[in-house]
Amino acid sequence: MEQIMETKQNHIGIIGLGVMGLNLAQNISNQGFRVAGFEKDPALIEAARSIETNINIFDDIIPFIAGIEKPKKILLMITAGEPVDEVINYLQEYLSSGDIIIDGGNSHYKDSLTRQHLLQRFGINYIGLGISGGADGARFGPAIMAGGSINCYRTIEPILTKVAARTDNKEICASHLGESAAVGHFVKMIHNGIEYADMQIISETYDFLSKGMGYSELESAKVFKEWSSSELSSFLIDISVSVLEYLDKDTKQPLVSLILDRAEQKGTGRLAAIAALELGVAAPSISESVSARILSSKKQERVSSSKIYKKPEAKHPYLDIVDMKKALLAAKISSYAQGFDVLSAANKEFDWDMSLADIAKNWRAGCIIRADFLDEVAEAFRTETKLANLIMAPHFSSILKDSIPSLRRVVKWAITRGIPSPVLSASLSYFDTYTSLNLPANLIQGQRDYFGSHGFERVDKAGYYTNDWNQ
Ligand code: 6PG
Repeated sequence: MEQIMETKQNHIGIIGLGVMGLNLAQNISNQGFRVAGFEKDPALIEAARSIETNINIFDDIIPFIAGIEKPKKILLMITAGEPVDEVINYLQEYLSSGDIIIDGGNSHYKDSLTRQHLLQRFGINYIGLGISGGADGARFGPAIMAGGSINCYRTIEPILTKVAARTDNKEICASHLGESAAVGHFVKMIHNGIEYADMQIISETYDFLSKGMGYSELESAKVFKEWSSSELSSFLIDISVSVLEYLDKDTKQPLVSLILDRAEQKGTGRLAAIAALELGVAAPSISESVSARILSSKKQERVSSSKIYKKPEAKHPYLDIVDMKKALLAAKISSYAQGFDVLSAANKEFDWDMSLADIAKNWRAGCIIRADFLDEVAEAFRTETKLANLIMAPHFSSILKDSIPSLRRVVKWAITRGIPSPVLSASLSYFDTYTSLNLPANLIQGQRDYFGSHGFERVDKAGYYTNDWNQ
């Protein structure tokens, strides 16, 4: 069992040297910290040892833990769920009061809360750490969202602030967002929900550029490239350009046109949609983006059904490129408004005190949904801390007044042709419902009262009423 033992103790230990764990370990080590890495999988150990690094790699947990300075800081970079509980159970035996376990995976926020309470009994600190940015982010600067005791956070803050992403004006994208360990993972989960919606909106736009404008992948890439230096500037637009313009080495075709149209998922978007519903928040753009992936995965059934149902022939002018851009922007604002509404509801429900402005700022660099537009989101929540909904902020309402008509035209165009527009449509529907003075919910109340005597309020007098509808 080969181990490189250092005379000096390690500043931090990382359990799990998969892609994310190893990249983060390299990032931390490159910032001048001594890092111990633990891994059981021989292939991963070999991969870690094959790269030039100062990380002290262990396959034996006892010397790994013994070599970490007090208070021991152990970062878990392992699969969410049971493996996290197993490792925590195991670690407890070797840790003592004041030591810190940091969970850097995509754990469910409710699990993080349970683990924090459990470990508190033994004086062990627990930090739920949302980390976004994929493999490159982990290696060169992720966005970091932390939840847990502030005193404990202060102990690991010097490491986190060194490795985190920085915005163009050097702001550090690592934040302590609340005392509950659940907060870090909750914010990361909503980040992923928004990520799903944003990716779907961009994909629907790509579909319309092709079916509505007759654009090839390379032409669409050019359009997105132009948009990337506008208010739509974002990492997801940038990578879409790169994906669309990439040519397959063998066929010389755009590789994206050869990829099977079946979207997979690890499930964090679904958890975000579930959390929204559990909190009683409407986030249709997020849930529709999950449904869109699920439906896309039924390729075989889609092949069969498309033979039975032909798409309508619609004679309509081609789509307008300016409309497409504005539609994308309007749907994006609507989706982000929903995501932030979930965060706001969680603050109320769990008595958290997350600053929505800080969250938006924290997402400015390093993470997957990083976008210039988040500066304006942060500003909106900073100016009006009690803002009911992002679409009510003056900056965004003036953009929406200008762009919603375009979204309407684009969605109408798609619906007329039977071209799916799940998230563009859901984003418009959300906007239309949220901004409606009157809704047909009065009939729903009447129906509920009819079959269940559930009662209703009236517009003409105060109080709660029930009616005998058969009288
Ligand atoms: C991030 C990503 C990351 C991961 C997603 C992808 O912020 O770094 O969101 O967490 O890429 O889990 O999830 P799906 O497989 O569900 O698309």
